[in-house]
Amino acid sequence: MKLSTLCGVILFAILFPLMSVHAADIKVGENVFRKCMACHVVTKEQHRTGPHLVGLFGRAAGTANGYKRYSKAIKTSGIIWDAISLDAYLAAPKKYIKGTRMAFAGLKKKADRDNVIAYLQQFSQ
Ligand code: HEC
Repeated sequence: MKLSTLCGVILFAILFPLMSVHAADIKVGENVFRKCMACHVVTKEQHRTGPHLVGLFGRAAGTANGYKRYSKAIKTSGIIWDAISLDAYLAAPKKYIKGTRMAFAGLKKKADRDNVIAYLQQFSQ
């Protein structure tokens, strides 16, 4: 393989994941969020089984005002919510935070996670 081709391939490998984050689709994410709606509200600050998700980005895990049912595990996790920590939590909640009370198996598809994270981010501005 020519060096220039190799460089191109490497550059693509680096840039592609970044591009795919930008390609996240808020509308599709809204559909993915249906899986969360049994337990979460994001359009207003209302708790259900789970805490509301308004203003999530940049917030420390386990600190939504007025939600009393957080597990000790999430409160002491030291996690700040951003696209990276959310991706890890939503992929496998009980693996990322051992002892979390969120009874949700996880979103196996990276695209589902990217899209739902893009959807959630709108309510953090
Ligand atoms: C069966 C109910 C249930 C479902 C479904 C569910 N969650 Fe949760 N979620 C919870 C509970 C309960 C907690 C609190 C966890 C704890 O205290 O350990 C939580 C916590 C969270 C947190 C941390 C909030 C904070 O204030 O730190 C995020 C983010 C979250 N869920 C996102 C989601 C998303 C996105 C989905 C859908 C893909 C989802 N959850 C599906 C019940 C659920």
